[in-house]
Amino acid sequence: MKLAQTRLQQLGPYPFERLSALFSGPSQNSQLEPIDAGAGEPRLPLPAFVQPTLDEHIGGFSRYPSTRGDIGLRQAIARWLERRYNLNGIDPNRNVLTANGTREALFAAAHALINPEADEKPYVLMPNPMYQIYLGAAVTAGGIPYLLPCEAENGFEPRLETVPEDVWRRTALVYVCSPSNPTGWVAEAAYFEHLLKLADEHDFYVLSDECYSEIYWQTPPAGLLEVAAGLGRSDFERCLVFNSLSKRSALPGMRSGLIAGDAELIERFAKLRSYTGSATPLPLQHVAIQAWQDEEHVQQHLTGYRASLRAFFDEYGTENIPSGSFFCWLPVENDEAFAVAAYEQQAVTILPGNYLGATNDQSYNPGSGYVRVALVDGPEKAAELARRLKAVKA
Ligand SMILES: Cc1ncc(COP(=O)(O)O)c(C=O)c1O
Repeated sequence: MKLAQTRLQQLGPYPFERLSALFSGPSQNSQLEPIDAGAGEPRLPLPAFVQPTLDEHIGGFSRYPSTRGDIGLRQAIARWLERRYNLNGIDPNRNVLTANGTREALFAAAHALINPEADEKPYVLMPNPMYQIYLGAAVTAGGIPYLLPCEAENGFEPRLETVPEDVWRRTALVYVCSPSNPTGWVAEAAYFEHLLKLADEHDFYVLSDECYSEIYWQTPPAGLLEVAAGLGRSDFERCLVFNSLSKRSALPGMRSGLIAGDAELIERFAKLRSYTGSATPLPLQHVAIQAWQDEEHVQQHLTGYRASLRAFFDEYGTENIPSGSFFCWLPVENDEAFAVAAYEQQAVTILPGNYLGATNDQSYNPGSGYVRVALVDGPEKAAELARRLKAVKA
């Protein structure tokens, strides 16, 4: 084996690179205005507090931000978690870290928490299909990804019952994504309870990606920390949650997120970040403080997302409204062929589902046969998108 060969080589290209490659041949219908429903990037006006807060704190660009994040921001995050999940006693010094968006945090967490030199290689469990960062994190940290298929007949729940005892024994981490990108599945409290019971039995950590927690169809989704507290685990033992201003506040370009939970895990993570992490610039951290303190803009966004979902499904004609997130996970015959046809015939960009899945030992990829459609452009475009997708002939 070459000395310079890295674990990175085990990974394929990222889904959006595959999408660019897929669309490099076919040409988009130039008669229609393009609709980009490929990336999960909210496109909403900036919340009103952004500009004045930036103006006030602009001088902060001349200082290095501290790796853990400004204490004012950690306090705002702790209070938000307490309000949102009816918790108390979240210590901004012990239980909270800030991150330059959760993408890097979700990736780095595996590197901070698993031991690739254990006698037997550790497993990292994750939903399939999934936000591909979990897969990249597991592989590069030296773990073995173990895929939990999420299928329509089980409401897209990543099924814990299917995991063999031998895998549980070697499990180091479990990634949960609720609300789920791409399927829209939302974990009930009982799911987290079951997972925590298994975590105690088999000595692993639960990493809960809750980035879409404020985008839901009916009831606010349960969070891992609130379930842990309800079980009397007020120290949040074995739990880390990840959340972000990218979706909640429609500020993906700000790169601001949170990590919260078990103080010991936070400490390990902080140590890793002291070597690798750089925090969000200070003026942006001040904007982030405002964003965690204000629910009005979040409610406005939610109203808009719901209107878009309603408009899309009224037009599309099925009642597959996701419980959470702004993604529609639509069954099609052949996902790549459908995405190409949508691009060529209707000037629509969507993501083939198999790019968001991984293929297991039995050559099965549960993302195949679906496309992911992001509703990020408001109700009118959502209805137009549905009309165009219905007209696709693949
Ligand atoms: C499931 C999920 N988790 C995490 C992220 C990362 O978001 P950010 O790094 O902007 O906080 C995304 C972004 O698309 C996502 O879909």
